[in-house]
Amino acid sequence: MNKYKIKNICCIGAGYVGGPTMAVFAEHCKDIKITVSDINQSRINDWNNPDTNYLPIYEPDLDNLILKYRNKNLFFTTNIKDSIAEAEMIFLSVNTPTKEKGVGAGKASDLKWVEASARQIAEYAVGHTIVVEKSTLPVRTAKTIEKILFDSQKKENNNNKKNQTFSVLSNPEFLSEGSAINDLQNPDRVLIGGSDHIAIEALSDLYKNWVPNEKIIRTNIWSSELSKLTANAFLAQRISSINSISAICEATEADVRQVANAIGLDKRIGKEFLSAGPGFGGSCFQKDILNLVYLCEFYNLKEVAEYWEQVISLNNWQKDRISKLIVNTLFGTVSGKRIAVLGFSFKANTNDTRNSPSIKICKDLIEDGALLSIYDPKVSQSQIEKDLGIKCSDQFLESNSGTIYYERSIEKTAEDAHAILILTEWKEFFNINWDLLIEKMKRPAWIFDTRSIIKTNDAKKSGFNVWQIGNYCNSYL
Ligand code: UDX
Ligand code: UDX
Repeated sequence: MNKYKIKNICCIGAGYVGGPTMAVFAEHCKDIKITVSDINQSRINDWNNPDTNYLPIYEPDLDNLILKYRNKNLFFTTNIKDSIAEAEMIFLSVNTPTKEKGVGAGKASDLKWVEASARQIAEYAVGHTIVVEKSTLPVRTAKTIEKILFDSQKKENNNNKKNQTFSVLSNPEFLSEGSAINDLQNPDRVLIGGSDHIAIEALSDLYKNWVPNEKIIRTNIWSSELSKLTANAFLAQRISSINSISAICEATEADVRQVANAIGLDKRIGKEFLSAGPGFGGSCFQKDILNLVYLCEFYNLKEVAEYWEQVISLNNWQKDRISKLIVNTLFGTVSGKRIAVLGFSFKANTNDTRNSPSIKICKDLIEDGALLSIYDPKVSQSQIEKDLGIKCSDQFLESNSGTIYYERSIEKTAEDAHAILILTEWKEFFNINWDLLIEKMKRPAWIFDTRSIIKTNDAKKSGFNVWQIGNYCNSYL
């Protein structure tokens, strides 16, 4: 029997996880009032903007859900106090970046936002509240949250004002950016960890509105937290594995796509997540592996820590080898040479650039004096400037070495360029008219396709020299 009646949900954190997740909850839990609250006023204004082109994040199909449910059963606000007070269930979706200083710097997650949110819940919650961890967190974070909440509960109950009691659950998010809505609508599984079985069932009941019960897994809280880190570590490991093979393919007469296809047909390996590329990016993979490494070191599991650390080393090496290869190919220097960069986000169908491999590769080329003209269908000029730490220039001068330009079309980007560098697999880069493009460029003209998406024969017919990741046959090196 479910003794917790959920009529109001609050989600703290209106970001890439909180926004899409609550939009899908709103669609399937129409009789529940869902309030997404955030400390960032301008972000909340963007969520409330009648023109969905201004939503703070780009995610296919998100705008439709927002238009349908916003101000009906889905609300965006900065009024954290009231949203906590009226909620029977609170999701924590705040960011947890890698710590930059202090104990565990460079590896451990910075939990200051999670702690701050737990303290806000302790201050404002009324009656029984189920607190659900959605953010990716190091194992045993639930303990920190519980400690803050249970101590507050004792204090409150002594004063007998708000009748506070709490249950803490872990319900990690497995959505992948760019396909978040589809992932949320049709999850492979929903994982709920905790010890309060009634609270677990209260959350399961919400999911059961659209997810079959057999896909809802119940575990203890630590298994749930560790499963999230492990899932991301395994996924990232697959990418580093195929990227390591891409380098061998380039050195031999093999093609990494053929190798990926051949091994992927083995059911035990599976065909997903085997695309070689410029290295994985995004807010989760690196951070979660670093978390795992930190945890292993804490428990004196040195060999295990070193094993997982290699996944990151290989990822860094992949980015490094691509920028070196470009410089070497363009006759040992890119100084004063314009390079057309196609794609800046860490993957297609998102405007997110967190840890995008483009950042490191572009910085390396800028360092060598390149003039980068950058085009991405969804990433803004200000975001690129922030990531690269320099302002865009308007005037194109070859003497301006180490500059960036923001362009609004593929064609503009290619003007006077020595090379095209494809960094993100946006659909519109798949079928470029190479005959038209090469006319605008300097000769010899090159293409560096780090996502292996173009038809190399077409590009070669138009007169390009082509390098494609993991593909010896098209490599001229
Ligand atoms: C998610 C996960 O929750 C995180 O664990 C993972 O590592 C990255 O992905 P995400 O939604 O992508 O986070 O982060 P972000 O887009 O930065 O959104 C977090 C939001 O929380 C921000 O809008 C921030 O303003 C808000 N926030 C942060 C609060 O409302 N309160 C705080 O105390 C801290
Ligand atoms: C990831 C996990 O997939 C998701 O389950 C978790 O909740 C959050 O972290 P996300 O980072 O949004 O999701 O995207 P994902 O599709 O996993 O891609 C991560 C990075 O790996 C991207 O840079 C992508 O380009 C790269 N990648 C992915 C490859 O290079 N090759 C592949 O085959 C797949």
